[in-house]
Amino acid sequence: MLPSLSGLAALGLAVFSSLVSGTILQNGQVREINFPNTRTDPSAHTFKTYPANASEISYKGRWDSKHVSWWSAPGIKFGYTGQTVAITFGNLTSNGVLVGYRIAGLDWIFTNITAGATHLLVSPETPGATLTGPINPWTFELRVTNWAYGVQIKSVHVAPGERLIKLPDYGRRIEVIGDSLSAGMYTSYEGLSSWAYGLGAGLGNTEYTVTGYPGICAADQDCWGNPRGQVHQWFYTSDTSSRAYEIHGDKAEPWDFAKHPAADIVVINIGTNDQNSHNNVSAAAYIDALTKIIQGVHGKWPSAQVIVMSLWLGFYQSGNTYYPNAPDGFVREILDMVKGFNSDAYLSSPTIYDGVTKKSTKLRIKKKEKPFVHYFNTSGILQHNDIGPQWHPTDVGAIKVASHLQQFIQRTFGWEFYATGPEVYHETLYWNDEPNY
Ligand SMILES: *[C@@H]1O[C@H](CO)[C@@H](O)[C@H](O)[C@H]1NC(C)=O
Ligand SMILES: *[C@@H]1O[C@H](CO)[C@@H](O)[C@H](O)[C@H]1NC(C)=O
Ligand SMILES: *[C@@H]1O[C@H](CO)[C@@H](O)[C@H](O)[C@H]1NC(C)=O
Ligand SMILES: *[C@@H]1O[C@H](CO)[C@@H](O)[C@H](O)[C@H]1NC(C)=O
Ligand SMILES: *[C@@H]1O[C@H](CO)[C@@H](O)[C@H](O)[C@H]1NC(C)=O
Repeated sequence: MLPSLSGLAALGLAVFSSLVSGTILQNGQVREINFPNTRTDPSAHTFKTYPANASEISYKGRWDSKHVSWWSAPGIKFGYTGQTVAITFGNLTSNGVLVGYRIAGLDWIFTNITAGATHLLVSPETPGATLTGPINPWTFELRVTNWAYGVQIKSVHVAPGERLIKLPDYGRRIEVIGDSLSAGMYTSYEGLSSWAYGLGAGLGNTEYTVTGYPGICAADQDCWGNPRGQVHQWFYTSDTSSRAYEIHGDKAEPWDFAKHPAADIVVINIGTNDQNSHNNVSAAAYIDALTKIIQGVHGKWPSAQVIVMSLWLGFYQSGNTYYPNAPDGFVREILDMVKGFNSDAYLSSPTIYDGVTKKSTKLRIKKKEKPFVHYFNTSGILQHNDIGPQWHPTDVGAIKVASHLQQFIQRTFGWEFYATGPEVYHETLYWNDEPNY
């Protein structure tokens, strides 16, 4: 039984046909939201203005040379003085795009952004804006919620006499490479409710990048309307959205790995679209692409540890219980590939790959490398009601995946948890007021 076929078809099509809309539907009902209107007329203010390339502004995730954001949950972060932060967005912004922003360790505030407009995001009236300490200076972080949409930063403003402050990056970094499952499709706040975001934010003191895009395959072919697969696209700044082709045509900027710090841990969850018979990717073509992605990561970031996640494909009801669909989705092939990476033969003479030149290079090394590819078994983490009718994790499902991954990373690499307080998942506070029913 493969009901996931029709479900995942929706996944590709929805991306290209939907328009930006501020409505969040929750189990078919309109969710009550309170998104402040932050648009402002810049001529009504006196600002001190910083250009998009100001060194005080840190860009998180993938941004191109025009300061346009790509992939899932990209963001900016900086410290500031005063109680005013406004941003002017460029006209390459997706009009109406929903962004989340937060002051210090407070909850996210959501607002939709108008292309070419200035938005007053922090003022003394913003909840929490006047609270002082312990986080000092005040920090401002903004993230785009949707993978297919983006913003362009034109300038950042503070009050006259005030300033932006460059915040040092955290000392550890995670990158998640994936498809809709990592991008946060069908969770409440999309990228900002995804397990990939929850992993980075939940560990705390961790920089994170989510190079996930709905419908994309590992194999370099059209999957659900994505013209390229991750074995190609991961090496580029932009994703496979129609927005990308509208903005740069077929001239995508290669990602400048030399200019950005290496990830310490790379989590890969890709193959759900490859295994879908709609896309006609053979197991051999899939494994070849996944192998090259890992060899690409190893080439760009020689010290990165790679975690390959086993795939999950939803559940079906059988009589009075539920079973996972195709529990063997490329399971044996992925395991064999991981074993290959960890073999003496491979580690004595590893191969690296570059997705721009398409060149594989066999390294001649003096000393055998240590194993760097790990297998993360997802079986048993999600139950049937952790996956919504659109075949993607619910908010609860996403939190489960993130939490188990955090534990795996703590056990395997000794990473401590630092996020012991700051809001991680917006609007997931469900509780019971009445103890006696
Ligand atoms: C947010 O965007 C939606 C869709 O474009 C629009 O209906 C809504 O009025 C906007 N909300 C605000 C506060 O601007
Ligand atoms: C920002 O861009 C401007 C104009 O291209 C340039 O003159 C300036 O040096 C850049 N600033 C930084 C910090 O890179
Ligand atoms: C977009 O912004 C750029 C730079 O500010 C400007 O040169 C261009 O004319 C604008 N395009 C449109 C369509 O508004
Ligand atoms: C799927 O791929 C196989 C092998 O490359 C090919 O023979 C077949 O025609 C393809 N089917 C479709 C529907 O594209
Ligand atoms: C993954 O976990 C499931 C459930 O515990 C187990 O049945 C399966 O053997 C595991 N697979 C591997 C490759 O360890």
